Amino acid sequence: MNKASKKLLDLLNKGIAREMQVVIQYMWQHVLWSGVKGFAVKDELKSIAITEMKHAEKIAERLNYLGGMPTTKPEPIFVGTSLKEMIAQDVKDEVAAIELYKEIIEVAQAEGDVTTAFIFREILEDEEGHHDTFTTLLEEV
Ligand SMILES: [Fe+2]
Ligand SMILES: [Fe+2]
Repeated sequence: MNKASKKLLDLLNKGIAREMQVVIQYMWQHVLWSGVKGFAVKDELKSIAITEMKHAEKIAERLNYLGGMPTTKPEPIFVGTSLKEMIAQDVKDEVAAIELYKEIIEVAQAEGDVTTAFIFREILEDEEGHHDTFTTLLEEV
């Protein structure tokens, strides 16, 4: 018995690739940014990077359960050179995550996969929080 469609498995892998991208992106932004204005931002980036790693793991566990193989390739990483450039990109990546996870919730629900839909509702709540944080930071840098 197939537990999930190929479409859903591919969407989960896209989620994993995006999560791995932002883990590295936020981690290097955290490490590289040294300006005075960046002090508060650095801690925020570090804590969000750790949350994204937990997301990648959670999605991979679900994909594995559903019979898929988690990708090891992140989506293209964009670190940026100024704080404004970094945070502007991060806002875009959070918007993309929110759109993707809403799609995953819809597809999972249509397939009767209540658990996947539930997992992504929880992750979606985090991404909306990140989007809010980065949007606020962008106004201040
Ligand atoms: Fe995430
Ligand atoms: Fe996020």
